[in-house]
Amino acid sequence: MIKIFSNPSVIITVDTGGENVKRGKSLDQISLLPDHSILVENSTIKDFIPTQSLSKFSSYQNISLKNKIILPGLVECHTHTVFCGSRGDEFRDRMSGKTYEEVAANGGGINKTVIAVREASFDEIIKTVSPRIEYFISQGITTLEIKSGYGLDFENEIKLLNVIKRLNEIYPIEIISTFLGAHTYPNEFKDNHGDYLNLIINKMLPYIAGNKLAEFCDAFCEKSAFSASEVDSIFNKAVELGLKVKLHTDQFNSMQGISTALRHKAVSVDHLEVINQADIKNIGASETVCTLLPGVSFFLNHSFAPAKKLIEGNAIVALSTDYNPGSSNIANLNLIMSIAALKMDMTIEQTISSVTINAAKALNRNDLTGSLEIGKKADFAILDTNDYTDIVYATGKNLNCMTVKNGEIIYNSQNS
Ligand code: NIG
Ligand code: FE
Repeated sequence: MIKIFSNPSVIITVDTGGENVKRGKSLDQISLLPDHSILVENSTIKDFIPTQSLSKFSSYQNISLKNKIILPGLVECHTHTVFCGSRGDEFRDRMSGKTYEEVAANGGGINKTVIAVREASFDEIIKTVSPRIEYFISQGITTLEIKSGYGLDFENEIKLLNVIKRLNEIYPIEIISTFLGAHTYPNEFKDNHGDYLNLIINKMLPYIAGNKLAEFCDAFCEKSAFSASEVDSIFNKAVELGLKVKLHTDQFNSMQGISTALRHKAVSVDHLEVINQADIKNIGASETVCTLLPGVSFFLNHSFAPAKKLIEGNAIVALSTDYNPGSSNIANLNLIMSIAALKMDMTIEQTISSVTINAAKALNRNDLTGSLEIGKKADFAILDTNDYTDIVYATGKNLNCMTVKNGEIIYNSQNS
């Protein structure tokens, strides 16, 4: 089956010349292709044809995109979308002066969401989170990562991973699953860290790997959560079982998380608000993606990650919402791009590379999606503007009017 996505004002290919990644200065090169249309065969990009020769292809289905921009389908590479309940009360407490860490230490935080998740059935969780997936799709997101991490016992972590698996079956985008049993210590193991680590390493991880319930293993390396040596023992087992690793680290404290992640060849290190100079240097020489989450700094009124220094240091930078109920109740990737530009001094082009090819690399999907190159998947976000400056300038506005996954139109704003 051949289709032509024809006559857009411009195609932003984010071409990588086959490298499938952008690091350092190359984040600024997003490759604009005017006067071209895209020929799609089955689910992949077959060719870019000059729009003036379109008449030769008149027998194929034609999707006219006049005055629109074609962008690679967006990749949302770090979310905690499967949560239940609200943390609005904590939000209020924070507005009257308490910090995120104080709120967590007083029985709020991640463990509050854990209570709500444990009370909810599989079906209730699916019902609660489905509109969130639909919202991501409406933004042009064609690949979405979701973490567990609010179950924090065997039964409920597995329940969340099965919810993510089911969502991937229900929705036409690709939903990728990450096990985050090491999100924090659950209340019942507050004074017995050894037993919880043992549960993760000897029960949860073998079951999850054996049943292919997650592709990645994540952890939170932080004073209030897991030390670098605890992360190290979890990652040893995860890697042995064939999972790839990623790490929440350097959000509030820099405590050897990055060197631990690099030792395990992590696909990404995420947060990095307080990353130190030595780690900036090491990460720039590695294949590990730096996933920056400026929505968290905005939402918690905390420092921003040093995006410019990382890019100058040749790092592979990606951006994501970190959508979760406590530190970033933001599911809008466009807003994140604007915050990144306004608060971390990223250029518009850098933000585009960061939510496409580099976010795909953070999920090990960069050879398939994240840029528009012949042979890659026909995953597109179609934006209703002629000027790509609007992606960042129209702060928080959803400019996406059509989402295409594997060559199929899966969302069209005219029908919704
Ligand atoms: O990525 N850092 C840890 N986890 C989340 C916050 C989750 C929560 O507060 O519920 C984050 O910021
Ligand atoms: Fe997170």
